[in-house]
Amino acid sequence: MDVRVVVAGAVFDRGRLLAARRSAPPELAGRWELPGGKVEPGERPEDALVRELREELGVEAEPLERIPGEWPLKPGLVLRVWTARLVSGEPRPLEDHDALRWLAPDETDEVDWLPQDRPAVGEAARMLAAG
Ligand code: CDP
Repeated sequence: MDVRVVVAGAVFDRGRLLAARRSAPPELAGRWELPGGKVEPGERPEDALVRELREELGVEAEPLERIPGEWPLKPGLVLRVWTARLVSGEPRPLEDHDALRWLAPDETDEVDWLPQDRPAVGEAARMLAAG
């Protein structure tokens, strides 16, 4: 079976990490995630991330580096995460989310992350704290 990749962004701006609260589907609503979505066939993962952040948040972002590792979501779907820099725009929850928060490195435990996002969030917080 082909494995489909979901890309998500640890979006940094002014020393904070962006967290997004899902509004759907019902079993995920209310949990927090790193924003992103599925890579389309033939699409580069970094391009998919730029597209998803534009669609979901209305911002332009630049992928910086891959956070090592990948995390299974369900059979045939894995999560990969990149750090990203906010280039322009102020994120708004346009699609898939109903709230956003900017978290300082010592605040990243304050939201109820989707479990599969936690390892990448921990690593992103360490990278942010290290400057
Ligand atoms: O919008 P699109 O269909 O491309 O993707 P999505 O519905 O946002 O995400 C696809 C799947 O990846 C969903 O099951 C999400 O729960 C999961 N996901 C995740 O676990 N962690 C993220 N940071 C982003 C998506």
